[in-house]
Amino acid sequence: ANGRPQISASFRDVAIDGAQSEDGAPEQGGSTVSITVVGASGDLAKKKIFPALFALYYEDCLPEHFTVFGYARSKMSDEELRNMISLTLTCRIDQRENCSDKMEQFLKRCFYQSGQYNSEEGFSELDRKLKEKEAGKVPNRLFYLSIPPNIFVDVVRSASRTASSQDGWTRFIVEKPFGRDSESSGELTRNLKKYLAEEQIFRIDHYLGKELVENLSVLRFSNLVFEPLWSRNYIRNVQLIFSEDFGTEGRGGYFDNYGIIRDIMQNHLLQILALFAMETPVSLDAEDIRNEKAINLNQVKVLRSMRQLRLEDVVVGQYKGHSKGGKTYPAYVDDPTVPSGSITPTFAAAALFIDNARWDGVPFLMKAGKALHTRRAEIRVQFRRVPGNLYGRRSRSVGGGGTTATRELEKATNELVLRVQPDEAIYLKINSKVPGLGMRLDSSDLNLLYSERYPTEIPDAYERLLLDAIEGERRLFIRSDELDAAWAIFTPVLADLEANKVAPELYPYGSRGPVGAHYLAANHNVRWG
Ligand code: NDP
Ligand code: BG6
Repeated sequence: ANGRPQISASFRDVAIDGAQSEDGAPEQGGSTVSITVVGASGDLAKKKIFPALFALYYEDCLPEHFTVFGYARSKMSDEELRNMISLTLTCRIDQRENCSDKMEQFLKRCFYQSGQYNSEEGFSELDRKLKEKEAGKVPNRLFYLSIPPNIFVDVVRSASRTASSQDGWTRFIVEKPFGRDSESSGELTRNLKKYLAEEQIFRIDHYLGKELVENLSVLRFSNLVFEPLWSRNYIRNVQLIFSEDFGTEGRGGYFDNYGIIRDIMQNHLLQILALFAMETPVSLDAEDIRNEKAINLNQVKVLRSMRQLRLEDVVVGQYKGHSKGGKTYPAYVDDPTVPSGSITPTFAAAALFIDNARWDGVPFLMKAGKALHTRRAEIRVQFRRVPGNLYGRRSRSVGGGGTTATRELEKATNELVLRVQPDEAIYLKINSKVPGLGMRLDSSDLNLLYSERYPTEIPDAYERLLLDAIEGERRLFIRSDELDAAWAIFTPVLADLEANKVAPELYPYGSRGPVGAHYLAANHNVRWG
């Protein structure tokens, strides 16, 4: 039912065969996995991580022997942690299904340890409890750092020294943000690498775990019809659009230090762009895919092949308060955790270019914003006009019996849309003839709507990524050189925006965003889809 039986099975096979694991650990029949969610009392842990772990358990994707630990400073008993977690667990496959037995079994495997994040004692105590649960089996340990970034290194230092597995593997999933710019990101990487090898670090970008983003490569590389068109010869522009219909509610404190370019563009949208634009990887191996992505983004090569993002290629905005239908929507700066007078952008649009042979001159337009009129994430590919434009001319006469009619048949160009969310879909806008005796063209869609074609619920991105981390599959995680390259693209423009104190264009909460985004697109002969 989970669509990955071979992967889950391979994990168990390795454990049972007594083979060497990727990290060099002896894996025997008696191995176990302990997953520690550091920051267990927090928003992400409750909202995403524990529910994803339960969904994996529910679908029999977790190894037979596993334990889940929560770690945070808050005082909590095991029972209190279980009560907290139970509020957010759902039966993923079918909401009507009763999975209370499974929930109970899952919760019995959840425990809690309270401690400071920079405290070796806290993590030693955790280590002692983990050993108890591991009961002499070969221990594999996964730490999920669901905490603010300023304490990542403290946790890695303390946990790696005192709670690493002695015989099995130890891995750390690190949440974004990975720094604020090239320098701070480099510093974070250097600090993490004092305690961990790169193979132990799993930098998560949860957009890479989204179903449609995973399907992008399948669409490109397993269908003959798309790849030949995938270049400047046929593609006019590519749009990467992220919009949310709510503001920074509750996360203003974090957000104000980062802004939308760092929060969404530098990671989620850039990762999608890289997957979209990369050359065919040699294989589906993690390193081959990450090498190809890095070829477009690689720091050295990008300086030659990717035009540096300039201030004039960026538009920034910030939402302002707005009343509609008797309801009042707050401005960004109304958030009590946001400093008054903040000019942090909650919206940005940018035009990026990859100056290699495949993409020379093709604008890649990104748009990301909070408190807009709709929630959606999409990749839109607008193709060039048909040469000669046969159907753009006046049509021949239509209709018999002496009646004649001529119609202007100028039609839209083809557009391929991958709707990442909500309501996942892939559709291709084509021109076709309206049935009848005349010759009228209409723009319609060839539509793969996931809810119709695949009615089972789609796994959450965190489920896929957690399972990959447990299995040691790094394909969807960010390597440090990719991260350097991603920051190299955005750091100069971020510095310019800050140095010049560029005031964001205000847009009403719930609107389509600042008009500046339309001018930016128009400068590149693009209309937003
Ligand atoms: P929270 O602010 O909820 O923090 C998680 C836990 O960390 C808290 O419960 C608290 O636990 C501890 N904590 C909070 N602030 C501090 C502090 N200043 N010093 C020490 N400990 C602190 O974070 P989230 O759960 O929202 O996010 C966790 C990570 O995931 C962050 O890196 C965030 O950027 C990232 N992320 C979050 C998303 C979300 O939707 N929430 C989405 C994508 C990424 P206690 O007091 O019990 O120790
Ligand atoms: C996070 C951002 O990475 O992604 C948030 O920090 C944003 O600001 C979230 O709301 C969006 O994720 P999703 O999966 O809900 O689209």
